[in-house]
Amino acid sequence: MRTNYCGLINEQYLDQTVTVKGWVHRRRDHGGVIFIDLRDREGIVQVVIDPDTPEAFKLADSARSEFVLSITGRVRNRPEGTTNDKMISGKIEILAKEIEILNTAATPPFQIDEENISETVRLQNRVIDLRRPYMQRNLKLRYQVAMGVRRYLDVQGFIDIETPMLTRSTPEGARDYLVPSRVHAGEFFALPQSPQLFKQLLMVAGFDRYYQITKCFRDEDLRADRQPEFTQIDLETSFLTENEIMDITEGMAKQVFKDALGVDLGDFPRMQYSDAMFYYGSDKPDMRISLKFTELTDLMKTEEFKVFRGAADMKNGRVVALRVPNGAKFSRKEIDEYTQFVGIYGAKGLAYIKVNDVTNLSNGENSGLQSPIVKFLSENVLKEIIARTGAENGDIIFFGADKEKIVNEAIGALRIKIGKEHGLENGYFVDEWKPLWVVDFPMFEYDEDADRYVAVHHPFTAPKEGHEDLMVSAPEKCLARAYDMVLNGWEIGGGSIRIHRAEIQEKVFAALKITPEEQQEKFGFLLDNLKFGAPPHGGLAFGLDRLVTLMTSAESIRDVIAFPKTQRAQCLLTNAPNSVDEKQLRELSLRLRVKQSENKEA
Ligand code: AMO
Ligand code: AMP
Repeated sequence: MRTNYCGLINEQYLDQTVTVKGWVHRRRDHGGVIFIDLRDREGIVQVVIDPDTPEAFKLADSARSEFVLSITGRVRNRPEGTTNDKMISGKIEILAKEIEILNTAATPPFQIDEENISETVRLQNRVIDLRRPYMQRNLKLRYQVAMGVRRYLDVQGFIDIETPMLTRSTPEGARDYLVPSRVHAGEFFALPQSPQLFKQLLMVAGFDRYYQITKCFRDEDLRADRQPEFTQIDLETSFLTENEIMDITEGMAKQVFKDALGVDLGDFPRMQYSDAMFYYGSDKPDMRISLKFTELTDLMKTEEFKVFRGAADMKNGRVVALRVPNGAKFSRKEIDEYTQFVGIYGAKGLAYIKVNDVTNLSNGENSGLQSPIVKFLSENVLKEIIARTGAENGDIIFFGADKEKIVNEAIGALRIKIGKEHGLENGYFVDEWKPLWVVDFPMFEYDEDADRYVAVHHPFTAPKEGHEDLMVSAPEKCLARAYDMVLNGWEIGGGSIRIHRAEIQEKVFAALKITPEEQQEKFGFLLDNLKFGAPPHGGLAFGLDRLVTLMTSAESIRDVIAFPKTQRAQCLLTNAPNSVDEKQLRELSLRLRVKQSENKEA
């Protein structure tokens, strides 16, 4: 029987006989003595096999990488000079008495401690990849976080209730994964994008505090921090205000960080959505970086320079400056790279001014401002730019001028890039945890393609008190009772107070141009049940994968998921999705519009 995990044996066990079971991490032959590093989920222990135990020696000699062994032996001190302070077992070794080979192993596609393996190879060989200490650590931390969440919510009186995986779609803005019904030919289930409507119905049913750690499915364009199948820590409460819900969930985040990482997050500041967009161009500002936008749109309405004037006069146009302390020393090449970078976000250029001498703000040849654009700007405006940005000698000021959305995204991304690249040495980046709440989101945003307003959070979010009439008269001014938790530039959670009166819910659907017939057909089960005494309620959902990615400093969200999908929404281990038999299709009353082989090539 195993007596110990390899990685946990220390000096406490000196002179004791132990039995360990694990995988051969490394085997070294040192002229007559064999060393095996044996690995299990807790780490590695060094085993010494000498020729005095001929049977064990023979077996050790035949063992290869990733063979599974059972080893019994005596714990002894490592010889002086060969200890390793970084390992729990670094001061000891096991002198083997008996070895049993529990299984052999084919040569693995890569060594467990090999670095720089391509992600494709890692995902194709995920099982071997999961043996690596990095992945073992990530998945263990994920488990700790989930357990911490359960403990916290249990104490707070939340109960875990499961909601269905085969359901109607709950529109949250993404495309559904559909599942054909065999019994009801031509009809489909949708996999849940979130348990949103079920958790609201559980409040109507009187459960008061619900939570679930559950899978959600969204067939959306994948980005670095997204998976088609991901996990939410989903919760809902009755009778609480948004402040009370934020307090409970903030407490949860604090406790999880304290327990898993020993980190004190402190109290989370709250920032209005409008301020977040105004100063950082983002609804999830990375507060580790202190650089801020300076608004110039008003100033440029009277200037001649067409790049700025054009944007200032545009509907939804914006002109901003980004002052970067000590940035005047950026090389031409570096500025060209930043210009290309903002191009990714649609910016047509990246004007800049290097501030060499703030006592000379002329727009002439010998100006203290070095820039291709100063000659196009009036001296009054140059003075105002310096005054508003607070720029000092040695700084650089970048400019974004375009539609508001492009400026916010391009200069917002530039702010983060420069902050990370140069902030530490120049004092505008701190390497700390910077959580915050973003509150007072707008209810609606205009979707140009669909030519109608759409919900910013989701259509079940309540408008702010006193804003109900704005839903019809000025939808863009209507604020929502919604809040997001943001950490180091990532949206890790979002929620809202919901609409609990059917007549308000119908009004919101109307503002979204969903006709009464459509409302009844899509959301009848919600509207009908809101009429049976729905309590005031609200909640929030965290993205567990994102939270753990941040906590482990993993390179990708895929590194905290045991069996993730690629950026192209495939599983390289099982080769899903895959084609199916004609018979299966027939049973489901389906006929394909592409040939299966064509489909694979696409
Ligand atoms: P929302 O859509 O904001 O809200 O999702 C909640 C949180 O889930 C995470 N998340 C994702 N993580 C990985 N991959 C994805 N594709 C992905 N999409 C979302 C984010 C996000 O903050 N029903 C509402 C919650 C509520 O109102 O209570 C909802 O789903 O971290
Ligand atoms: P142009 O008039 O296109 O030669 O541009 C003059 C300067 O303004 C160059 O430094 C461009 O990089 C910059 N520029 C052009 N368009 C924009 C824009 N939309 N936002 C910010 N800077 C721009």
